[in-house]
Amino acid sequence: MKTGSWTVVLLAVTTVALCSPLINELEPGQEWPKRGSVKQPQDESEDEETSPEKISPSEPESEIPGEIKEEISLLAREAENVKVDYSGAQLWKVSTEKTGVRATLGRLRRRNLISTWAGNQTYMDILIKSNAVQNVTRIMKRENITYDIIIEDLQKRINEENPPLDENEIELQDRRGHRMTWKQYHRLEDIHGFMDYLAKTYPKIVSVNTIGKSYEGRDLKVLRISDGKPTNKAVFIDGGFHAREWISPATVTYIINQIAENFDEESDDIKNIDWYMLPVVNPDGYEYTHLTDRLWRKNRRPSISRQCIGADLNRNFGYRWGGRGSSSNPCSDIYRGSRAFSEPESRAVSDFIKTSTANFTAYLSYHSYGQYLLYPWGYDTAVPPDHNDLDFVGKRIAAAIETTGGSKYTVGCSSRVLYPASGGSDDWAKGQGIKYAYTIELSDTGRYGFILPTSYIEPVGRESLAGIRVLASELNKP
Ligand SMILES: *[C@@H]1O[C@H](CO)[C@@H](O)[C@H](O)[C@H]1NC(C)=O
Ligand SMILES: *[C@@H]1O[C@H](CO)[C@@H](O)[C@H](O)[C@H]1NC(C)=O
Ligand SMILES: *[C@@H]1O[C@H](CO)[C@@H](O)[C@H](O)[C@H]1NC(C)=O
Ligand SMILES: *[C@@H]1O[C@H](CO)[C@@H](O)[C@H](O)[C@H]1NC(C)=O
Ligand SMILES: [Zn+2]
Repeated sequence: MKTGSWTVVLLAVTTVALCSPLINELEPGQEWPKRGSVKQPQDESEDEETSPEKISPSEPESEIPGEIKEEISLLAREAENVKVDYSGAQLWKVSTEKTGVRATLGRLRRRNLISTWAGNQTYMDILIKSNAVQNVTRIMKRENITYDIIIEDLQKRINEENPPLDENEIELQDRRGHRMTWKQYHRLEDIHGFMDYLAKTYPKIVSVNTIGKSYEGRDLKVLRISDGKPTNKAVFIDGGFHAREWISPATVTYIINQIAENFDEESDDIKNIDWYMLPVVNPDGYEYTHLTDRLWRKNRRPSISRQCIGADLNRNFGYRWGGRGSSSNPCSDIYRGSRAFSEPESRAVSDFIKTSTANFTAYLSYHSYGQYLLYPWGYDTAVPPDHNDLDFVGKRIAAAIETTGGSKYTVGCSSRVLYPASGGSDDWAKGQGIKYAYTIELSDTGRYGFILPTSYIEPVGRESLAGIRVLASELNKP
């Protein structure tokens, strides 16, 4: 008996030695290996190029500081389960090039009459609350500020945005084994059901792991697509940081679907990469936008004072946390949290990336909107030493997107193209030594903004996938 067990142990040791690079090998149903849990064959050479000194990274966001006082009435509303009504609220596009315009908009924001949807160096998209339209119109006239009314009645757009599926689609859903259609914006349950379906259907290449829980206890599910080659590089893709940016999870699931369902026919460039994808970083906020407030942005954790709810997860990452373009006011839409990684969602993402054995060489975070492809740094108007590489690959991705679907993306350093925003996930990823770190602001450029019609889902998915293919080919270049 004793001898027997020794034999087993010896066998096990021999096996490990013979096929040592188990790092990426897929064992369906097993935990993905963590850093340190598997001996790397050619260890130790890592810290040279892969971790650009202590570089830091960050991410740009198309939203601007807005002191939105949402307050206690939110809690009351939630208790009654009443949807926030945006009837009469409007979206305006305002040129900010004239002196004084930004200051005026800042005052209106502090008085809680407007909030910011998106903006760059020359324009801002602002939401005018319905009860403030008259006063804001008067103030703009008085100050000689010109603007375009983009959306006359936001609630009307919201009502039309996500129509129910027709009967054919519903029947197809039943036959397919999951409910995702890319003809509709789906609830979290459909997204997670789809991921589980793929893992069950393609156990050799697809696996799903819950890397943590949201504040309200929802799963943070990462799906991995990999053929298990130990030489593979790895790419991490996420979406749904900001709850209202519905096109983002729709796009990430579109990419997952295309790669997983057609893996055998995929190019070597795609197969030589382990894909890790987290479609909904902020599931609490995402569900809240479906059920209560379509325009919610942050997560759903009350601040310590319980004065307001939610932190901006994309201001909560620990690279140069607390700097420009983030707010210490818990009621702000860009509240950075009480400290770096104070939020369970951002902590789960960073813990996962840090402890994974995957050799991440690219990090993509999908947001909306504005059509920008942005690279670090976001925290300040500086660029990392290898910014030419990021710019080159970014422009190739943008070219592929435009060729495929026609959408023009502006490529550049986020703090310069938009404005500084610290605590972003892309700055952090870059700081971890992940070379190609991008934040991608998907469509559109402000006609519909966050309330993007469902007819956009497939075209945006298709062109984004073309961008992913170009990234894969660049990563596979020797
Ligand atoms: C800024 O936004 C405006 C309006 O959305 C757009 O026309 C312009 O091209 C943008 N600028 C840059 C540098 O992307
Ligand atoms: C609009 O202006 C009037 C007059 O100054 C003021 O009484 C009212 O409270 C203002 N409305 C809002 C929503 O601020
Ligand atoms: C707005 O324009 C009018 C006439 O063009 C001018 O008299 C007035 O001083 C301007 N107001 C501001 C605040 O610039
Ligand atoms: C990770 O990828 C880089 C190239 O992106 C390569 O130089 C390095 O050797 C890889 N590390 C491991 C442990 O495979
Ligand atoms: Zn965003």
